[in-house]
Amino acid sequence: MAGAGTQTQRRRTSTHESFWRHRGFLWAKLSTVTCIAIVSAYLIDAPHVRPGPSGGTAMGYVLGTIGALLIVWLAALGIRKRVITSGHYSLKAWVSAHVYLGLSLIVIATLHTGFHFGWNVHTLAYGLMLLVIASGAVGVWAYATLPNALSDNRGETTRKQMLAQIESLDEQIHEAAQPLPRDLAAIVRLSLEHTDIGGGFWRRLLERYDDCANLEALDRVTSAKMVAPQEDAVVLNRIEELMERKAEVLARARRQMHITALLEAWLFVHIPATFALLAALTVHIVSVFLYW
Ligand code: HEM
Ligand code: HEM
Repeated sequence: MAGAGTQTQRRRTSTHESFWRHRGFLWAKLSTVTCIAIVSAYLIDAPHVRPGPSGGTAMGYVLGTIGALLIVWLAALGIRKRVITSGHYSLKAWVSAHVYLGLSLIVIATLHTGFHFGWNVHTLAYGLMLLVIASGAVGVWAYATLPNALSDNRGETTRKQMLAQIESLDEQIHEAAQPLPRDLAAIVRLSLEHTDIGGGFWRRLLERYDDCANLEALDRVTSAKMVAPQEDAVVLNRIEELMERKAEVLARARRQMHITALLEAWLFVHIPATFALLAALTVHIVSVFLYW
């Protein structure tokens, strides 16, 4: 019970759990006020610029500069995350600001363009920015929901305990199979030697284990049991039971790894798209100055 209590406590104070409401939604409020101010300024300015709002007007330059600085600052979170400072609270503030100021970019960058889009590197930068923001939103969803899914699936058992359970079941299966003849022992070895608990990232992410060696062995044990002599059938019965238990623990361990993989997957879009965005943005800014 004490362990469960500590775990809940740890979850409550974790960076990922509550960054979105950090200091009474401070960054959400600041970000909303900024967006309202920018939209108001744009609406006041727009009727007076000829031929119309665009990235090339004074307002366009101001918004473009704010947007670009913001993007560089948001991208710096990757560096900030790896620098250890006093406790995780300061990091929590960073992530909170990151999320809300990141979202405000939708308003800032869209108004910067004056709603001009085309098949060019400028719109590529804009599209990449939206991709980074969308993947960030998926990340927020993942951090908000998946830790609970993880602990629900785990119940009282830790990942280490699940692996220990599989190991112990393997030992029992090995022990039980001793009296079996060579051909039946080969089926048992299939489960013992060829069961892949997790596998590569994609396998864990997609939770695809149709070809699981333990399941295959279980299938074969069930069929062999029907035709085996009485004394072997008793042994196979016991092995079948153990393999079924192993299949259950495997399913839970794999679900655990699947959820952990989901927790990482969005970053595989968020981080590379950030680099691509920085590159496209550099080209955009250099090119508008070159062709000015
Ligand atoms: C220092 C920062 C920036 C500067 C100086 C800048 C400059 C400009 C200029 C001068 C234009 C007008 C180009 C034209 O009318 O031909 C423009 C348009 C545009 N900018 Fe920026 N920009 C900056 C940041 C950004 C950011 C952060 C984004 C989005 C990620 C962005 C996306 C666009 C788009 C999509 C257009 C419209 C292109 C079109 O007309 O097809 N810019 N920018
Ligand atoms: C153009 C805008 C953005 C850029 C350039 C950007 C970039 C980054 C970078 C470089 C990291 C660090 C990743 C790492 O090293 O592990 C990060 C983390 C993160 N970003 Fe963004 N991001 C942007 C917008 C957003 C938005 C709008 C959201 C949410 C709606 C978001 C949510 C997150 C989250 C939740 C993290 C993880 C923080 C943590 O691990 O504690 N990002 N982002």
